[in-house]
Amino acid sequence: MTLRRSLLAAAALLLALPVQAADPPSPDAIVDAFEAVLGPITNYRPSHPKGTCAVGHFTATPDGTRLTVSPVFSGQRIPTLIRFGVGGANPNASDVARSTRSLSIRFDTPSGDVWEMANISAPIFGAPTPQALVDGLLARRPDPATGQPNAERVAAFVAANPATTLQGRWLAANLPPASWATTPYWGVNTFMFRGQDGQVRPARWVFEPRAGVQRLTEEQVRTIGTNFLADEMRRRVATAPVEFDMVLQFPGQGDDLLNPTIAWPDDRPRTVVGRLAVTEVSAGPGGPCDPVSFLILDQAPGITMSDDPTLQARASAYAVSLSRRTR
Ligand code: HEM
Repeated sequence: MTLRRSLLAAAALLLALPVQAADPPSPDAIVDAFEAVLGPITNYRPSHPKGTCAVGHFTATPDGTRLTVSPVFSGQRIPTLIRFGVGGANPNASDVARSTRSLSIRFDTPSGDVWEMANISAPIFGAPTPQALVDGLLARRPDPATGQPNAERVAAFVAANPATTLQGRWLAANLPPASWATTPYWGVNTFMFRGQDGQVRPARWVFEPRAGVQRLTEEQVRTIGTNFLADEMRRRVATAPVEFDMVLQFPGQGDDLLNPTIAWPDDRPRTVVGRLAVTEVSAGPGGPCDPVSFLILDQAPGITMSDDPTLQARASAYAVSLSRRTR
């Protein structure tokens, strides 16, 4: 056999082998990708760095107590540490930007179990897998010659990864929230809930504002300024607690449990499982929520992560990010 023929035979053999899925990026590689675009992490989160701390409490409804054995859903009043944020990577981001707003919560149960979550004001995430997130970040890293992202590299990434444009399209089609108190916040990833009946049910959640959904008008986007959210929230909470209903949504036949760029249809069964009340907002930036990453690996029992790879990647990446910004 000639060298050429044996090389062709070897190539044919390799092609016949089953394709091995690439390993997901490590938590360090994920945070390195953020740093490649943003520069070294100092004391700010690389994602949603602009934010304001608050406190409040959460009380499960009887349905919530039925649907999960988690101590967070006992029906007792559970103290919560809260962070409202503005998406993107700029600590001075504009409050009228077409990015997400966020509601992050740590529930501290009387038994000492802690549950943390970070939610966004869009029903979908901007990357279907951790690899797509990392590749998207790296595609946008500044070109040393110009200090700007290379437009061709970004365009090639977007063309090859159309699912990464879905969240941006949703945000472009919806005006920014008029207040942190007037937007829903979606958990986006699927979690597994163990009920009192022993059944484990997949579900996603959304926090629905009791004040109703209100968005800025086009006119307000031009005139309200870039820094109104924190003061507006302080004024509101000084008058009365700001409340959200926590709603679980259950998948239907064929719904994708593992891809956070695809929302489940609105007609899927929904159950109100608890109410969050925000009772106090920190006076200025920073505060007790700063050294919290809002997604720990060791969560209160009763609710576990699904196999969604973006969810699996999150907790460890948040821990790495937290350790870099607090070192
Ligand atoms: C591959 C998936 C993801 C990765 C690698 C990732 C990575 C990160 C990192 C490194 C941080 C900063 C953590 C810190 O320093 O404390 C962060 C914050 C955040 N992420 Fe993600 N994220 C992912 C998916 C998501 C999804 C699906 C959501 C939607 C709910 C989300 C919402 C947030 C929010 C709201 C924050 C700010 C939390 C706060 O208030 O402190 N992330 N993310």
